[in-house]
Amino acid sequence: MDISLPNSIERILLDEDTIHQRVQQMANIISTDYAGLRNEEFLLVGVLKGSFIFMADLARRLTVPHRVDFIALSSYEESSETTGSVRMIMDTRVDVANRHILIVEDIVDTGYTLNYLYRIFEARRPASVRTAVLLSKPDRRKVEVPVNYLGFQIPDVWVVGYGLDFADRFRTLPYIAMLKPSVYQR
Ligand code: PRP
Repeated sequence: MDISLPNSIERILLDEDTIHQRVQQMANIISTDYAGLRNEEFLLVGVLKGSFIFMADLARRLTVPHRVDFIALSSYEESSETTGSVRMIMDTRVDVANRHILIVEDIVDTGYTLNYLYRIFEARRPASVRTAVLLSKPDRRKVEVPVNYLGFQIPDVWVVGYGLDFADRFRTLPYIAMLKPSVYQR
């Protein structure tokens, strides 16, 4: 099957301007909510790989001091269906205890990944745990998870770009596009 860009994209769902405006709005709200904290107290934790572009754009728009760290998980194992099993590949380097943690995710789908992250972070006695998620597919939810800062709700379609992939492709597209169903319904 040809999964080159022109043959794979159905249409653009969110263009660059739309994404950047929303990320700016999210950064403004988060900057207000976390105002007054010191650099040591506020930690953004990006969930690799999907969040790397959202994390970079969101973090650079914050006007409050913060540190950044990453965690790497695996759930889909390059297939299109999740089993609900989440595996940690790389933990944070910064100790989350007594810090205000903001988990930064590209997408919440079934909710298994965020549910797993809440459980492991809350066990580590942080000052607080909240989530900033760019995209949510509410129709796909299997477990209810709180999302404190949400970019966009989207329908149950496979999206790529701005960090999101299909088989590790298309992550660096500047926009978010719908894949043609023929690409992932195999
Ligand atoms: C994606 C996404 C989230 C997770 C959401 O990660 O980045 O972490 O799935 O799905 P869920 O709500 O059903 O758990 P993926 O496993 O595709 O890895 P990647 O970020 O490295 O692409």
